[in-house]
Parts: sequence; C-alpha cells; structure tokens
Amino acid sequence: MTDKNFYVTTAIYYVNERLHLGHVYEFVLADVIARYNRLLGKETFFLTGTDEHGQKVQRAAISQGKVPQEFVDYMSGEVKKLLEYFHISNDDFLRTTQKRHKKVVQKLFQKLWENGDIYKGKYKGLYCIFEENFLTESQLVNGKCPECGRDVEWVEEENYFFRLSKYQNKILKHLEKNPDFVTPKTRRNEVVSLLKQGLNDISISRTAFKWGVPLPFDEKHVSYVWVDALINYVSALGALTGGEKFKKFWPANYHIIGKDIIRFHAVIWPALLMSAGIELPKTIAAHGFLLRGEEKLSKSKGIVLDPYKIGGKYGVDPVRYFLLREIVFGNDGTYTDEIVVNRFNSDLSNDLGNLVSRVLTMVEKYFNGEIPAKDESHELDSQLQGSWEDSLENYLKNMNILNFRESLIAIWSFVSKANWYVDKTEPWSLNKNEEISKLKTVIYNLCESLRLLAIFIYPIMPVAMEKLWTQLGIKDKISSSKIPQALKWGLLKPGTKISEIYPLFPRIEK
Ligand code: MSP
Repeated sequence: MTDKNFYVTTAIYYVNERLHLGHVYEFVLADVIARYNRLLGKETFFLTGTDEHGQKVQRAAISQGKVPQEFVDYMSGEVKKLLEYFHISNDDFLRTTQKRHKKVVQKLFQKLWENGDIYKGKYKGLYCIFEENFLTESQLVNGKCPECGRDVEWVEEENYFFRLSKYQNKILKHLEKNPDFVTPKTRRNEVVSLLKQGLNDISISRTAFKWGVPLPFDEKHVSYVWVDALINYVSALGALTGGEKFKKFWPANYHIIGKDIIRFHAVIWPALLMSAGIELPKTIAAHGFLLRGEEKLSKSKGIVLDPYKIGGKYGVDPVRYFLLREIVFGNDGTYTDEIVVNRFNSDLSNDLGNLVSRVLTMVEKYFNGEIPAKDESHELDSQLQGSWEDSLENYLKNMNILNFRESLIAIWSFVSKANWYVDKTEPWSLNKNEEISKLKTVIYNLCESLRLLAIFIYPIMPVAMEKLWTQLGIKDKISSSKIPQALKWGLLKPGTKISEIYPLFPRIEK
C-alpha cells in the first residue's frame, strides 16, 4: 500500500443488543478520520460491521425465540440504519456471517495450523459469555468477571490452542521499533506491561455450541468468536483469497477501538498476523468510554443513552460535534443534556451560527445577495488572515494525531476572530459612510472565512457544512474539495450569488 491510500476501521459490533451512544462515539471518530483523509486526497477505505457469532449472540437470539441467522440479519440491519442516521460514510460493512469472511477465517486457521502454531488440548476454566473471554480464577473480582461484573461459567471442553506465548518477544520488539503501534501512550504502556508479564497460549476454538465458523481441519470445532472477529479487518479486503483491495489498503492505518478491547487488538491480533505472515496494522488507537454522568452505560442497570432520542433532540451533526469537542481522545467522557445544550448554544448557535447569519444577511442587504470582489483593504485584514493561518496550522497538526478536541478549539478561535472582525470593522458604519470599497473587502473576507470554516468543520459536521456551502452559493460539494489547496485564502469567486439564508443551529431553550 502507498501513502496515497488510507484504511481505517472500527471494532465490529456485537448484535446481541441495540447500540448506544458509546458505540456511536466510536464510529463517528472513524468517520471523521475517513472524511478528513478523503479531503487530503487519499483513496480511503473505511470499514465497519457486525460481530455475529458466539454464545452471547446465540443466547440473545434464543431468548427472543429466533433462530440465530434470522436474529443477526435483523440486528445487523439495525446497525446499518444507525450508521446512516449518523451520516457515517463507511465504504463497506462486514458481517462475520458472510461467506467472504468465513472463507478467509478458514484460510487463516489453515495457515496457523500448517505453521505448527495450533495444537489440541483441553480447556478447563472460566468463561465470561458477556465479554466472550476466557478467565482465570485469579482475575475474578468478588467471584465475577472483572470487566463487566457478571457471573462467569465453568467450561471444560476439548479446544485447540494457539501458541501465543511464542510471540511475546516479537510483539514487544515491534512495539519498541514502532512507538505509534498503540496510541495513546497510556494504552501503549499497558500493553507493554501485559507483554512483560508473559503470555499464555490461548484457546481458539469451542465445541460446546455450533454458532461460529467451523475449523477447516476439524469441523467439530468452531472458531473462538474473538479470532473470528479480528480477522474481519483483512477478510473485508479479500486477504489470502487474492483480493485486490488487500494489496491496495493493507496494512490498516488505524484500528479505532475502545480501551476495553486493547489486549485482543494489540497482543492477540498481532500474534495471529505474525503467524500467518501478514504485515501488522500501523496504529491501534484506543478511545475512552462515554459515561452517562459518572456512570458506565449498562442496559441491565437502565443506564442508557439512546442515539436516536439524542440525535432527534439536538440534531445529528451537533451530537457529532459534542462527542469530538468534549472528549479528549483516549480519555473517558461524560454525557449530560446540560453539557450538550451549553455547547450547542454557545459554540454552534452563538459563535458559528450568528457569524453565518450576520455575514450572509449583509451580503443580501448591501450587495443584493452577490458576494463582492475585494477592493480597498482594511487595516484589520491582516489580523483576520493571521488568525486563519494560525488556526490552519493547529488544525492540521492536531487532526493528524487524533487530537480532535484541539482541532476544534483551533477552528473556534478563528470563528471568534471573524466575529471580532465584524464588530471592529463595523460594516454597517462603512455602509452608512459610503466607504463602499472598504465594505466590499470586509464582506468578501468574511464570506471567504465562512468558506474556509465549512471545509474545516466538514469532517465533523458534514451535513450542516454542506448546507452552509449551499447558502454561500458554491456549486460543487465540499467533499470534492482537496486540502491543503482548497484552504488557500482568496479562492472564493466574487459574483457568487448566495442562496436562501436560514439558521443552521437555532438556539435550544433550556
Ligand atoms: N465485538 C467486539 C469487538 C470485535 S472487534 C474485532 C466488541 N463489540 S462491542 O459491541 O461490545 O463493542 C464495540 C466497540 O464499542 C468497542 O470498541 C467498545 O470499546 C466500544 N464501546 C462500547 N461501549 C462504549 C462506551 N460506553 N463508550 C465508548 N465506546 C464503547 O467488543
């Protein structure tokens, strides 16, 4: 793969329950990264999908009186609808029950088997069905799963094991050589310490149930759901089966995942890939958890954040903005309605929304709806442009390292400067005093600021920014702009006729 191509993935979602806003946070992150890289002119492939095998999903189907296939067909359809609702621009949607996936899972198992990295044994131990995780006695907390706090089950069955222990030093070396393999740093350190503690071989097949991919060398066994799931990142590209996409897009630039599944991605996945002779992904980027107030989301405890309710109340783009603006990538973040309303009213409605309507109303009023050409310069122009250049630098720098919050802060410092420029240049006085040549410049600069802002903000709020673009009268879509070229000051064509003005973010009354 060349630097011109870019591949980003999310985790694939279990279909036992409906998704909540925490899951939305993850696919919005990946969507922002994908949209940004498309603007950078990269040929981008953005993958998401559903994790449909395993005991957890099978039990959920049974509890609803459905056969698993019927149940997962319905639930994965629900995930697709949610992606559309949140304006997610994924290029593919992989389901682990698809033939194309199962084929690659079996090929990969066969490779590991032929390499001698798989052996038969007997697993006697604990298993948490909710986390789909094998556990030892010492990992339990008060006799329950350390991760989800649920009861665990005793499992005693014939399993195949994978020689994970063999890869401990190799992965450690890889981490040393590739400081960006796991980000942020705290997660990287966590992985290093896990590796230093030593790795045990892991069980990679199950015989107690059938809802999985049968192993090619022993059909009595189905793949352990986590191995099945991890392979999605390469099966979607047609790895080991001659897929062109695999040559083009692998290794992935980013696997975007939550901090709870870092061990699977930064220890088990690299070992499987090494064993199969496949290059490792470039970066595993682990985000934090979205909490409701102080509490972890939990359906059984009734601590839920319904994405449709929240999207319906505030609009999808503002919710996307909130998630990226409030949460530092890698840290946990808190959702409360109050925080969303405050952000909405201050940043979107007040700062950005007012700027847009002030500027466009003046184009309407002073120039009959036509963007004027620059004329005599105003003494404050250089301050506006200087602020633009600072914002641009900070924006690009931070977008490239997943610091979305800082990118947005950089954008909003320019929004403030543009509002300041309106207040200080007083276009209404210029008009009154008939300083029309200066007025033309001021209004042109403000319209140009809006054009640039729309591109900046587009990856985060794509639909609202396409609307702003249309209000500005620009014919192409923002998505066809290329940065950095399109971020050059002064590209807006004078004479462009603006279209109907309406508020993009009407204020929310508390
Ligand atoms: N199916 C596995 C992943 C397999 S990837 C090869 C899984 N599924 S999940 O549905 O439980 O979680 C999917 C993703 O959502 C994970 O990255 C997880 O961290 C993330 N989140 C689940 N709850 C979350 C929050 N409350 N907040 C943010 N992300 C959360 O694990």
